[in-house]
Amino acid sequence: MRIIRSLGQMQSAALRARRAGKTIGFVPTMGALHDGHASLIRAARRDTDVVVVSIFVNPLQFGPREDYRRYPRTFQRDVAVAKRAGCDVLFAPTAAAMYPKNSRTVVVVTGLSEQLEGASRPGHFRGVATVVAKLFHLVQPTAAYVGQKDYQQSCLIRRMVDDLDVPVRVNVLPTVRERDGLAMSSRNAYLTPQQRREAPVLARALRAAARNIRRGERRASTVRAGIARALACAPHARVDRIDIVDAATLEPVARLRGRVALLAAIRLGGTRLIDNVLVAVP
Ligand code: PAF
Repeated sequence: MRIIRSLGQMQSAALRARRAGKTIGFVPTMGALHDGHASLIRAARRDTDVVVVSIFVNPLQFGPREDYRRYPRTFQRDVAVAKRAGCDVLFAPTAAAMYPKNSRTVVVVTGLSEQLEGASRPGHFRGVATVVAKLFHLVQPTAAYVGQKDYQQSCLIRRMVDDLDVPVRVNVLPTVRERDGLAMSSRNAYLTPQQRREAPVLARALRAAARNIRRGERRASTVRAGIARALACAPHARVDRIDIVDAATLEPVARLRGRVALLAAIRLGGTRLIDNVLVAVP
């Protein structure tokens, strides 16, 4: 596995591969790789000739009071995880190279950036769209692989790719979970043992809500109240958001029909956890 840090070298290697007729599968990450990332890398390995994984803790997507500085950085371990899962090229640029002082351009996916998670984290999705657009130019992927855990992010990337005619197929893969249902996330490392014991309440609450819908509940307000009640079972969990939206448009819905996404975010101490389930309303 080759490690590339320079933007120019990454782009040249990608262009050479594409000119040679090879397909490139790309997994963008911020490192602290876990089994969720490994499953994306393995999918890219199955589908494409050259697998590129980026590791870049993107300062542009963190708010001033968020965890940019303490975000887990585990590069040596990540190298081993990426290699084992089938990565050919690990791209790990520096922030100074990605955002030189004179850079001025940002990417905003209007209507998808500011609502839901975007309302709780102003500027976050502008940072995500900007870095992903830059990474796509540098890595020249045929296909990109992202997780459903960051559902709004996956919708935003798909929208950006469609709107800007970027020739990349975006594959959204199911969330990988711990045995007790907790969605895998690099931020799980922040949890104390007590918080870790309470964290699966998020997945449990969403699963119970999905069951309730399948049994016939159609009022979003009732489903929402059920999720809030279930989350209240964890004494230290504070609800940050519960959103019930159309899975395609991310517009809030009052009566459930078609495909809906149940999205929730909680705080356990200083750690913010998100999760979601998609439900095809019978
Ligand atoms: O999901 C992530 O890890 C990040 O938001 C991404 C897509 C790598 C952009 O920095």
